[in-house]
Amino acid sequence: MSERIHAEIVRGWSGEDLARFPAERFRHVGETGSTNDDLLALARSGGAAPFDLFSADFQTRGRGRRGDRWEATPGRNLLFSLALPLGTNVLDGDRHLWPRLPHLTAWIVGSTVESILGPGHRLQAKWPNDLLHEGLKLAGILVEIVLAPQPVAVVGIGLNVNLRHEELPPELRPIATSLYELLGCESSRWFLLGQIVRGFLHHFPEKTADFSPVLDWIRARDFLAGQVLSVRSGREWFEGIARGLGDDGELLLDTRDGTLVRIVSAEEIRRR
Ligand code: BTN
Repeated sequence: MSERIHAEIVRGWSGEDLARFPAERFRHVGETGSTNDDLLALARSGGAAPFDLFSADFQTRGRGRRGDRWEATPGRNLLFSLALPLGTNVLDGDRHLWPRLPHLTAWIVGSTVESILGPGHRLQAKWPNDLLHEGLKLAGILVEIVLAPQPVAVVGIGLNVNLRHEELPPELRPIATSLYELLGCESSRWFLLGQIVRGFLHHFPEKTADFSPVLDWIRARDFLAGQVLSVRSGREWFEGIARGLGDDGELLLDTRDGTLVRIVSAEEIRRR
């Protein structure tokens, strides 16, 4: 099954891209616990190679950020995880660039989706790493890092492709959407995955250092800008108005006492 899908993913690719993403890098299964867990295990064993990609039709223990569950109807969506090495390139020893990875991912996935949707559609990027369409969630990103034996980022992406609205659990119906709902027809999951993988082949790791195109794209789609938020980072809660993103992609929060707080990671975000 993986080989047939790989052939669809790379259809029409040039030799150089193909050489960097051969069939051995790709594994698709009908069902697994979580593609992130599978790839994290491989990375911890030292066996993950650059651009190793695990995808599944269905996950029994799909995870979102903060331990949330990520559920999807079998075979409808893209559920995959990609291994990006952090120890053999510009990111080696430059850990302050690592928090830029979710933004790089949102830019690559979001640009791909916008190119499919066409010029009338612009996505929203909800810090730190959700992609929305008119306030409804279309994709989620979960970046997890393994430090040993080699530093590797496992980038997990859930993209609602052919999911029907009525297939969503009732509690998610008011807050989520899919490409199918926006276009009124099915899209090829494997063409989309190919475009996303190519985005990484062309822009990782370079755009983590040359970050302005990514940041400009995200800033132009900043969903939280101007909203009043309560944000929990570690044990502390901050309240204030979101004032866009700093140069490393951190959330800028204008707090009540007039201080501009820079939040690099958050466990909870509540909109007031
Ligand atoms: C979020 O919105 O909180 C992030 C969701 C990330 C879901 C993807 S689906 C593929 C990969 N495997 C997982 O268990 N999670 C990610």
